[in-house]
Amino acid sequence: MRQAGRYLPEYRQVRSKADGFLNLCYTPDLAVEVTLQPLARFNMDAAILFSDILVVPDGLGQKVRFDESRGPILTPIRTKKQIDDLNLARMEEHLAPVYETVRRLSKAISKKTALIGFAGGPWTVAVYMVEGQGGGECRKIKDWAINKPARLQVLIDLLVEATARHLIRQVEHGVEAVQIFDSWAGVLDGPEIRRWVIEPTVAVVSKLRKSCPGVPVIGFPRAIGDLYEAYVKKTKVAGIGIDSGITPKWAAQRLQPLCAVQGNLDNQVLMRGGRALEDETRQILNSLGDGPFIFNLGHGILPQTPPENVAHLAQIIRDWKKN
Ligand code: CP3
Repeated sequence: MRQAGRYLPEYRQVRSKADGFLNLCYTPDLAVEVTLQPLARFNMDAAILFSDILVVPDGLGQKVRFDESRGPILTPIRTKKQIDDLNLARMEEHLAPVYETVRRLSKAISKKTALIGFAGGPWTVAVYMVEGQGGGECRKIKDWAINKPARLQVLIDLLVEATARHLIRQVEHGVEAVQIFDSWAGVLDGPEIRRWVIEPTVAVVSKLRKSCPGVPVIGFPRAIGDLYEAYVKKTKVAGIGIDSGITPKWAAQRLQPLCAVQGNLDNQVLMRGGRALEDETRQILNSLGDGPFIFNLGHGILPQTPPENVAHLAQIIRDWKKN
């Protein structure tokens, strides 16, 4: 959840040396450095590769840039021809610096610290590719889902293959677990979630298992509510990331018997700190801390978050004892 990022002054310093965000992702020296920053500062139990879900469309040949104020902007895919022009072999070549970053990290990090790799879910990456930017109402891609499902299926099938290859490469270079971020899963309704989120994830996981048996997969289909349970059952992920809209008690009852749960502190609560941070953190720990559990936020850390609040959070978690 962007444990490395703009809330850290040392990140902003390195970021200002790189010529743009994507160059930071593609410069192993710098990407290794920023991956390690939160470990050094907070002694985290796991490192998450510093990269982005949008390196996949960038590698496939779509134009991607990061605007300081508006976030990611892509030249939107509109036609079948534009889909046909995307190139998987180009992606693997283009992303070689990311795999080099992984290789260096796996050497640099101590054995007791896990190294987590990641990719976007095919649906969420398709949202950025078709909309040209982050979600909103996702009108264009929803129009494809209803009126041009065959075309959307071609794009999703390509992204299933791209995602699996990208994750397999990361594992080959040293990541020990992978997370699939489906941040825009919640804009769809039930049957559509099954078709465009769950089915493609099942396909990614099965390709990954064939090449890399035993590597744990953590799913994060954000904001799908009750369908978290169906997602876990169908994809058979080893861990499920839950957003802040899910109550920890429900997750303990319905999800934790199936797999490890990861979550789900509200990023606003972390940003504000104080008593509410302590109370909500303990409530999560008391509900989920007895079963298989990874403490995390419910969504990405906000740039205005004081780093001291993150240090405080780490301390609360380490001091936690159920009473
Ligand atoms: O430390 C980590 O968590 C690892 C690195 C990481 C980043 N992005 C770095 C990043 C990870 C795991 C991501 C995932 C990601 N990227 C997601 C899925 C999780 C989620 O937040 O829903 C999504 C949707 C993206 C796409 C993306 N990248 C957006 C929407 C943005 C803009 C957000 C913003 O705060 O401006 C980015 C940029 C980005 N990715 C930054 C970082 C540290 C900030 C960019 C900067 O330095 O200017």
